Amino acid sequence: MFITFEGIDGCGKSTQAELLAKYLEKIGYEVINIFDPGYTKIGNEIRDILLDLKSNKMHPHTELLLYSAARSQLVSEIITPALKKNKIVISDRFFDSTTAYQGYGRDISLDLINKLNLIGSHHLTPDITFIVNVDLKNANGRLENKSNIDRMESENSKFKNKVLSGYVEIVKKYPERCFLIEGNKSVKEIQKKIKEITIKKIR
Ligand SMILES: Nc1ncnc2c1ncn2[C@@H]1O[C@H](COP(=O)(O)OP(=O)(O)OP(=O)(O)O)[C@@H](O)[C@H]1O
Ligand SMILES: [Mg+2]
Repeated sequence: MFITFEGIDGCGKSTQAELLAKYLEKIGYEVINIFDPGYTKIGNEIRDILLDLKSNKMHPHTELLLYSAARSQLVSEIITPALKKNKIVISDRFFDSTTAYQGYGRDISLDLINKLNLIGSHHLTPDITFIVNVDLKNANGRLENKSNIDRMESENSKFKNKVLSGYVEIVKKYPERCFLIEGNKSVKEIQKKIKEITIKKIR
């Protein structure tokens, strides 16, 4: 089982991914909690380039290729081997982020995005994707406590709104796999919903 969490910065992805992992471990599953881009040595080095505020000259195609490259390493080095051992893999972001940010956000054609997503994922598709949807104001408010804002987080509201509506389009396109989660609610309420959906799919 491969589960991914998606949504804009500050929507609550990491919080929910961690809670779901703890819950699944408690009921006896072996779980690995990862994040994209990064997690591998190569991926973390690519992540640093991507999120560095000094990378402000980065061309959208460079950005697309780097995210795909980091993901290719993550899938081959970590995800595929873990799935083969019957572990549940939970990833904080995966290829839907590329569709939302580089496709809808940066206006790269979805045709090109889909091609790169196939290469980066080695044709692996998540079994469940939770897209946590929050108001931009709410997400920005939650980020206020963060000390270091990265290059993507520092993007303007126009860009973030394009990403948000991109995610809604993704849910419409892949309703079997993607679940739009109302992220303006409390951590507990959101967790309950995510648990319910996961259990239904696992059993
Ligand atoms: N439902 C919620 N209600 C209120 N605050 C929340 C909720 N979920 C998460 N938070 C808080 O909002 C902040 C951001 O949450 P979190 O780090 O889980 O988001 P994220 O989507 O992983 O963000 P990033 O993309 O920056 O990693 C944290 O301080 C977290 O405790
Ligand atoms: Mg996070």
